Amino acid sequence: MKGIILAGGAGTRLYPTTNIISKQLLPIYNKPMIYYPLSTLMLSGIKEILIISTPQDINKFKDLLGNGENFGISLSYDIQEKPNGIAEAISIGEQFIADDDVCLILGDNVFYGKNLPRILKRATDEVKENNFSLIFGYRVKDPERYGVIEFNDNKEVVSIEEKPFEPKSNYAAVGLYFYKNYIVDLIKDLKPSKRGELEITDLNIKVLKNNKLKTEILDSVFWLDTGTHDALVEASNFIKTVENREGKKVSCLEEIAYKYNYINDEQLKKIILKYNNEYGNYLKKIVK
Ligand code: TTP
Repeated sequence: MKGIILAGGAGTRLYPTTNIISKQLLPIYNKPMIYYPLSTLMLSGIKEILIISTPQDINKFKDLLGNGENFGISLSYDIQEKPNGIAEAISIGEQFIADDDVCLILGDNVFYGKNLPRILKRATDEVKENNFSLIFGYRVKDPERYGVIEFNDNKEVVSIEEKPFEPKSNYAAVGLYFYKNYIVDLIKDLKPSKRGELEITDLNIKVLKNNKLKTEILDSVFWLDTGTHDALVEASNFIKTVENREGKKVSCLEEIAYKYNYINDEQLKKIILKYNNEYGNYLKKIVK
């Protein structure tokens, strides 16, 4: 399975900051936002990843993350000319996806929890082995801001609606989608919505209509929003609290790469030399 991180968008809610820098490069506590979705893909066992951003920002992501060798993965980059919608990531990534299945994650989505690696690994395996695509619902207090998933009594998905005035449930579709390869064909006849975007909700509805969409409720991990100033501060405080309490870092890419044997002792030691700070001290402690 391949991975795509969609890290473009206008970030209008974070103006004026995002006038000059991409939202996904802003820090959440002690690391750039994109570290978090990238760690989610790495924990899923995905090693070939495409990062999509705006023409202005794409080179900054390249400067930050390079070709991925520091994390033992392969990173490539592409541009979304305009924020034409989340589903456009699949069209932009068509050649990259080729004959594979694909996991799409939004560059501003943060997931954290002890069960997360297990849930992600199982999702990847299930989608590889079956013909369904998989999305997740998460209980929120303000579902009208999201794509809202309605379930029947058997916890099967009945409908998905984008930002409805009267939400049929409290379950928002999170920005993490495990798709079978047929998504590449389904996107081709998707039409832009009234607001002019290729909507991920419309794409998911297409998969649902083909009876190929499985939806799970994500209730043993945290899903954090980072789109507003308050959400950004709250996410930073959350990560700070967890890290300081447990003495472990959240979404430390080098640590994940090392623990998953994507990089070896020598590679990690070389990386540590770059960090004459607390991040480096932390990495020193995890080398055997
Ligand atoms: P949104 O939060 O919907 O949009 P945004 O980030 O542009 O912010 P704002 O509403 O404040 O203007 O986007 C969710 C994620 O998807 C975010 O990481 C940006 C990304 N995105 C794209 O990369 N391209 C797009 O066309 C859209 C709509 C979103």
